[in-house]
Amino acid sequence: MAGRICLSAPDVGQLEEAHVLAAMRSGWAAPVGPDVDAFESEVAQRVGVAHAVAVNSGTAALHLALLALGIGPRHRVLVPTLTFVATANVVRYVGAEPVFVDCDPHTGNVDARLVAELVTKRGHHARELAAVLAVDLYGSCVEYRSLLPICEAAGVPLVEDAAEAFGSVYDGRAAGSFGRVGALSFNGNKIITTSGGGMLLTDDAAIAARARHLAGQARVPSRQFDHTEVGYNYRLSNLLAAVGRAQLRRAPEMLSRRREIRDGYAKLFAAVPGIRLLGAEDKHGNCWLTTIVVDSRLAGWTAGALGAYLELHDIEARPLFKPLHLLAPYAGADRLITGSAERLFDTGLALPSGSVLSDEQIDRVHGTISKFLEDRR
Ligand SMILES: Cc1ncc(COP(=O)(O)O)c(C=O)c1O
Repeated sequence: MAGRICLSAPDVGQLEEAHVLAAMRSGWAAPVGPDVDAFESEVAQRVGVAHAVAVNSGTAALHLALLALGIGPRHRVLVPTLTFVATANVVRYVGAEPVFVDCDPHTGNVDARLVAELVTKRGHHARELAAVLAVDLYGSCVEYRSLLPICEAAGVPLVEDAAEAFGSVYDGRAAGSFGRVGALSFNGNKIITTSGGGMLLTDDAAIAARARHLAGQARVPSRQFDHTEVGYNYRLSNLLAAVGRAQLRRAPEMLSRRREIRDGYAKLFAAVPGIRLLGAEDKHGNCWLTTIVVDSRLAGWTAGALGAYLELHDIEARPLFKPLHLLAPYAGADRLITGSAERLFDTGLALPSGSVLSDEQIDRVHGTISKFLEDRR
């Protein structure tokens, strides 16, 4: 069967079509409307937080989170180095400086011991430490049992970048609910999508109100165009919120499909020496992207070689995120680096994981990987 197989393509169909058509016909083709309100309360309920503010990207949700916490040019924010670049960019948007922290070599999530080391070193810097921004990498929650007490003891708020983690659970709590503020992404490649969108989550009514105000151009409710400060045009379209509501309804089936796909890869690689699945121990993650980590001395091949082979067969496979401390905009940024993120970047490969993949497409991916392995036996 021909055609490109993507890593995580949007999984949208008839239900989404029906929802968007109904929203269009209702006349609410605007960045306000009943679907936005309902989407917010449905997501808040599902995650178990008091307030949700729908916005047009996960990046916007993170940006608003930092603004609502009053973070600005006098501040530093701890950011994992192994994450998507948006996590650090929002720190710069508010004029603060990121401090990059390396990861646990096993999970890829931020190493809580390094965070502890940095928060106890406070006071030696011109900029005050204003937040820890934790990322649930590839949908697996950070070890909050360790991280939360460290933040609490230091009096530093935790912001949870759960952009990739919708549907994940840790210690019985949903991803997105661990920080003073959390953020979800509904980008096209995520577990559920609004094509582009995000959600700010919090139990704090004042933070939610502040974020909502800033997201709506900081407009004061009045007949005049009255704005108290510089705001942002960050609200989510009602049409896209309608898509999100359809996706929420389908979330259980989409999550179990991702889990099924991960279990399939686990079986495929079970007897292959030198291969492990990142986050394999996490039984309550959302399996957003299944990623293998290759010990090339044992395997006899590299992650890069398998990635290139799959690409040759029109199958998308990508390395893990390039550690942010290696990127040009962050060349001079402060950091506490052990080398773990760089090793994962060199040895990891994310495989097609989208819930939209058919059995035939999964078979094609498995068949191609099996052929690659056979040729190297
Ligand atoms: C960890 C992480 N943070 C933030 C974002 C930004 O979300 P968005 O693309 O919706 O702006 C993404 C994904 O795109 C992400 O993976």
